[in-house]
Amino acid sequence: MAKSIEFTWNPEEISIYMRAKEKAVEYQDSVRVANKVKKELGRDPKILEAGSGNGCVVLMFDKMGFKNICGIEYNKEIISVLNKEFPDINFVNGDILNMPDALLHNDFIMSFGLMEHFIDGPDIPLKAMYNALNDGGYAVISVPCLNFARRVKRYFDRGAKRAIKKVKKSGIKFKYYPWFLNGAFYEYHMTPRQFRRECENAGFKIIKHAAAQQNLGIMHVLNPHNKPGKLIWYYELEEYNYSKMGRLVYWIANKLPFLFNHFQYCILYKEPKKL
Ligand SMILES: C[S@@+](CC[C@H](N)C(=O)[O-])C[C@H]1O[C@@H](n2cnc3c(N)ncnc32)[C@H](O)[C@@H]1O
Repeated sequence: MAKSIEFTWNPEEISIYMRAKEKAVEYQDSVRVANKVKKELGRDPKILEAGSGNGCVVLMFDKMGFKNICGIEYNKEIISVLNKEFPDINFVNGDILNMPDALLHNDFIMSFGLMEHFIDGPDIPLKAMYNALNDGGYAVISVPCLNFARRVKRYFDRGAKRAIKKVKKSGIKFKYYPWFLNGAFYEYHMTPRQFRRECENAGFKIIKHAAAQQNLGIMHVLNPHNKPGKLIWYYELEEYNYSKMGRLVYWIANKLPFLFNHFQYCILYKEPKKL
């Protein structure tokens, strides 16, 4: 079994997640890539979403006409709900490090926010994504970012330093900067350079590397307790309010994309082997 983090999902929230996805740049780029692959191949591409969660992305792609798509997800309960609700759509319960043969040989793979949850590091799951792609195939992969503001903040974050020290004492080694939830490892935050290097080490060619989720990143650093009336505050998934100063910070964040971004993503290509 993979040492990663399993999420629980409420199927009633699928439509909220769909609305949020529509606004997400990594999702919008994924749609562009899928359409490009479809055009190049002249057929419906075989698509996989690794860590499909509540299934919103797979459902949205299916609605757009991508019928050869599958979501693989660790959480059994949500998969059994999705299988009952959408019997014609392929949702599989499983581990991306141990995928059935039927889920290999993809033309396009998406994975949003999964590679960072492996305590041993993102290299093994990234390699698994590379191996699950056909030559000439594409992937869009997103992970949280150790952005510039977070790099500054971590020097002053005594709570985080104490938590890391405590866990390190038990012999656990962290490959990147760890983030904890309720005292336990939750995810890694990688700098843009670390993420690019991991993607290249897995064998991918990087087509594009970009920042995403500026709102959430600003909130994490400047208003972590989500207090209304501060610079920026959250009221629903990907829906935020800003003060005047918050608007200015958001404007700056968009000029300097790796200053506050919560996520970063890469469009990746698996080059055909030279004969
Ligand atoms: C951040 S969520 C992403 C959900 C969805 N892709 C989205 O963008 O809304 C990551 C998902 O990966 C699942 N997961 C974690 N480890 C996994 C593994 N080894 N194999 C398959 N899924 C896994 C988690 O249960 C969780 O649902």
